[in-house]
Amino acid sequence: MKKTYPICIAFCSLLLLGSVTAQKNKAQQIPSLKEVFKSDFLIGAALNWPQITGKDRAAAVLIPQQFNTVTPEDVMKAERLHPVWGTYDFSKGDQLIAYAKRHKLQVNGHTLVWHSQLPPFVHRIQNIDSFRTFFTDHIKTVAEHFSGKVQSWDVVNEALNEDGTLRKSIFLTKLGDQYIVDAFKLAAAAAPNTALYYNDYNNEQPAKRAGCIRVIQELKKAGARIDGVGIQGHWHLGKVPFKAIEESIEQYAAQGVKVAITELDINVLPTKVTGAEVGQHFKGDAASNPYVNGLPDSIRQQLAADYATLFRIFLKHKDKIARVTFWGVHDAQSWLNDWPIPGRRNYPLLFDRQGKPKSAFYAVIDAKLKK
Ligand code: G3I
Repeated sequence: MKKTYPICIAFCSLLLLGSVTAQKNKAQQIPSLKEVFKSDFLIGAALNWPQITGKDRAAAVLIPQQFNTVTPEDVMKAERLHPVWGTYDFSKGDQLIAYAKRHKLQVNGHTLVWHSQLPPFVHRIQNIDSFRTFFTDHIKTVAEHFSGKVQSWDVVNEALNEDGTLRKSIFLTKLGDQYIVDAFKLAAAAAPNTALYYNDYNNEQPAKRAGCIRVIQELKKAGARIDGVGIQGHWHLGKVPFKAIEESIEQYAAQGVKVAITELDINVLPTKVTGAEVGQHFKGDAASNPYVNGLPDSIRQQLAADYATLFRIFLKHKDKIARVTFWGVHDAQSWLNDWPIPGRRNYPLLFDRQGKPKSAFYAVIDAKLKK
């Protein structure tokens, strides 16, 4: 009797442990986006620093389970990699590469040339030759450092105005129109086996799309390599421009390049702006933040319906699409909680603040499985 008692406790504990593990496994047994779409296109997410370092526990489970490609949300931007003239800090970017390697994830580098998030010293460069030296060295050093480690680069990001003309960025002002061709040629030389993309928001809209096609044609005419166009995909609930998106996928593919959806999210909050101009900021009030206590069913259903329609379009054109990347893993992380109005509660992604799949997640899965 004395001996059987502890054995019984040990046996019961094992049973209990088994049941807890079984429950945990059951909770984790949700479909996997990367598996469901594995014969169609890659499925990705933008990762922030807590996710790269494993501090975000919900994301730590979701990332390897759901995605096969990742984009650094911030750690490969110029202000992070190149804070001081000629001094590079690759530590965080390298940590992302190591994380991706551990979990067998491809990496899209974001981004080599962007007018925003530049290190402060760049704005102080007066001399054109010095500016060109910064431009050349930055692309060469960063693309070489990550060559063989990233599978694609957003070489130039957001170089167009809404009417399709070139944005009067610091690069255009100092270097002239030629800077886009130069950037792609420098990137191709430094990273010969990396896919090279032009990336923008609203470039599914006809005027901006026409500008984007001009950029592709100019690059080709100049003998530069461009492999794809990134349509960022920052869209708004109930107003996703499905027709323009489908036409754009077809028209970009007709130029002989791949299409990637690079920063997908659907903003459910009232907003006066479209696209993703990070410089736009407004003050909010209670009316601008209506879902602090949760999302009404009608909005939840609309979000699921919008995502389902989008994925049906992506599947129809899967031969043209390399990857679909969400701009974040779950709602708590999304930049849309702070843009263009800070401190709101937004719900733009497929996983909620606890990392649980939303109706929109199942709608995306069903778009593939219940055709
Ligand atoms: O990490 C610092 C933190 O240490 C500091 O205390 C805090 C104070 O402001 O700032 C933190 O950095 C912020 C960073 O996000 C991480 O949260 C930056 O200020 C903020 O500017 C940065 O915003 C990013 C934004 O680009 C500008 O770089 C967003 O995370 C990122 O989602 C967003 O991504 C862009 C794409 O690169 C290009 N397309 C549009 C897209 C959405 O704006």
